[in-house]
Amino acid sequence: MANYEFSQVSGHRPCCRLSRTAQICLGVSLMILIASVVIVGILLWPRAPLVWKGKPTTKHFPEIFLGRCFIYTQILRPEMSDQDCKKILSTFKGAFVSKNPCKITREDYEPLVKLATQTIPCNKTLFWSKSKHLAHQYTRVEGKMFTLDDTLLGYIADDLWWCGDPSTSDMNYDSCPRWDENCPNNPVSVFWKVMSQKFAEAACGVVQVMLNGSLSEPFYKNSTFGSVEVFNLDPKKVHKLQAWVMHDIEADSSNSCSGSSINDLKLIVHQMNITFSCQDNYRPVRFVQCVKNPEHPLCSSNI
Ligand SMILES: *[C@@H]1O[C@H](CO)[C@@H](O)[C@H](O)[C@H]1NC(C)=O
Ligand SMILES: *[C@@H]1O[C@H](CO)[C@@H](O)[C@H](O)[C@H]1NC(C)=O
Ligand SMILES: *[C@@H]1O[C@H](CO)[C@@H](O)[C@H](O)[C@H]1NC(C)=O
Ligand SMILES: *[C@@H]1O[C@H](CO)[C@@H](O)[C@H](O)[C@H]1NC(C)=O
Repeated sequence: MANYEFSQVSGHRPCCRLSRTAQICLGVSLMILIASVVIVGILLWPRAPLVWKGKPTTKHFPEIFLGRCFIYTQILRPEMSDQDCKKILSTFKGAFVSKNPCKITREDYEPLVKLATQTIPCNKTLFWSKSKHLAHQYTRVEGKMFTLDDTLLGYIADDLWWCGDPSTSDMNYDSCPRWDENCPNNPVSVFWKVMSQKFAEAACGVVQVMLNGSLSEPFYKNSTFGSVEVFNLDPKKVHKLQAWVMHDIEADSSNSCSGSSINDLKLIVHQMNITFSCQDNYRPVRFVQCVKNPEHPLCSSNI
């Protein structure tokens, strides 16, 4: 087809007539050119991102990330106002964008951890397991204690969702891997594992953990606290772990501290040569619960 048209054109303009060899050469070149264009096109054509069953990256992720970072560093903890939020965002994204979201490693988040270091004072670390909401309410009122979500990176990432895709340097706003997709090394899980581990390693003095006494296993071994945090406490720095087992105010106030679940925790902690103590319904936290239930008998003057 190309050769045919070419000879037509050349027929009208004899000055440009080409030898047969040149025509063949040109034809072959043209075919090679077309083939190359097609191949390059296939290679560079935007590939469809991988499809997952889980929630996609939170909408407006960069805006929420930066907004929270600025609120934290400029308003909540002005002593951290020299932190560069834009750099923290780009370093955070560097951990997982353009990568398969099932192949994220702890090392991927290492630059982020190095960039946003924060010192938590001794005696002020509060872990929680299955009692997130109450733990956050308590630290907010108490004012000096830190859960992981009261640190800069924990505060920024709390309740957000994110992942990338090998085909693009943007985040995946269509879907991300879910826990049950045989994908434990996804960007969100690895992030929280790394952050929990660092948070626990840095704890010192007396550390506390708020557990949920309304569950049959207040100390749940597969939880982040039970599988990551407790084992990363440093016995050289931590002399005591204090458990506060909080029961829902409407539920029966049984004594969980003497139960087998808490005993499992006690054994682990003692093996690490850390002192353990346990208190059911620690009073200051009970006060927070009572704010919402002031008329409950358990909240009367003799609590
Ligand atoms: C931490 O608590 C222990 C026991 O209550 C106390 O002896 C120690 O001085 C406290 N450390 C700091 C830094 O407040
Ligand atoms: C304990 O767990 C139950 C069930 O998940 C939950 O409804 C309750 O709010 C939790 N209690 C606390 C103190 O977080
Ligand atoms: C806890 O984790 C172990 C090992 O990962 C797993 O075999 C087990 O099924 C988990 N238990 C529960 C109740 O999820
Ligand atoms: C536990 O700590 C005590 C006091 O610091 C020390 O004397 C002892 O050797 C430690 N035991 C173990 C098993 O590390």
